[in-house]
Amino acid sequence: MAKVIPDRNLAFELARVTEAAALAAGRWVGRGDKISADQAAVDAMRLVLNRVDMDGIVVIGEGEKDEAPMLFNGEKLGTGEKPAVDIAVDPIDGTTLTAKGLPGALAVVALAERGTMYDPHDIVYMNKIAVGPEARDMIDINSSVEMNVRRVARALRKQPRDITVMVLDRPRHADLIAEIRQTGARILLITDGDVAGAIATALEDSGVDMLMGIGGSPEAVITAAALKCMGGDMQCKLMPRNEEERQAAIDAGQDLDKVFTIDDLVTGDNVFFAATGITTGALLRGVRYYGGGASTQSLVMRSRSGTIRKINSNHRLEKLSQFSAIDYH
Ligand code: FBP
Repeated sequence: MAKVIPDRNLAFELARVTEAAALAAGRWVGRGDKISADQAAVDAMRLVLNRVDMDGIVVIGEGEKDEAPMLFNGEKLGTGEKPAVDIAVDPIDGTTLTAKGLPGALAVVALAERGTMYDPHDIVYMNKIAVGPEARDMIDINSSVEMNVRRVARALRKQPRDITVMVLDRPRHADLIAEIRQTGARILLITDGDVAGAIATALEDSGVDMLMGIGGSPEAVITAAALKCMGGDMQCKLMPRNEEERQAAIDAGQDLDKVFTIDDLVTGDNVFFAATGITTGALLRGVRYYGGGASTQSLVMRSRSGTIRKINSNHRLEKLSQFSAIDYH
């Protein structure tokens, strides 16, 4: 490959996007109103994304699952200048976490070259298994839970009982949880936020080795973008919720047996990713306020270089409010 001088890293611009969304959502933490929190994050995200020099199209929007305010699929964003990119947004992953002031809510956005992000269309859920770089190539979603835990444990030079698996706390996971417990592995049940859970597997010292279970399909694509930057691994399968959804998927030409790898979910290798904490969790510190301002912490990454940055920022809200169209109140 021809060597180039460092080119533009759009991830830095994405950091401003997720910071704005997190700051807007930050005011809604614990106020019991997830729709208003989501709306605030969506509005802030849209405003800043539209100022980025790019010809963007939203491939992974949000809202269809629970009729939340949306950055909708197909929406054009950016100034219209090159590069042409696909955009995946999750203005708040963990709207309920935000509304209840629980740990682990994030504002997230990813960009990749045009035509390289998978669109799960109407299939809301995917079964997922995700691990960090050290356990890369050790997972197989078609194998038993026991086999996966054993292989990951071996790669991490651990015993199965030393492994910690993060799982969304849902009735649909009763069998999965029982199978994981049978291996002796530990489980961290989370009420929401499997994007942060999956990314945590790729961060040293997060205390999370694996993420398993069924979560949102849009979240799977966003997670793939992040894990591509971090060298982690993930496999997913589409999970229709009922017979009607299954038939619709088959009619639309979807292969329900297909195992999606990170490269299937986001092809190409120039992926940009940013996430900012809204509430403090395993991954990032949440928004904190002080007199006249607020602080944020963000994870900012690019797959081509593999550079992972954590950015701590201080925002002078009293100054911003003089000229910013975003309502940080
Ligand atoms: P929202 O913030 O959009 O509510 O999504 C949170 C989340 O927990 C995701 O992290 C996860 O992938 C999905 O919802 C799980 O869906 P469900 O709550 O329907 O089980």
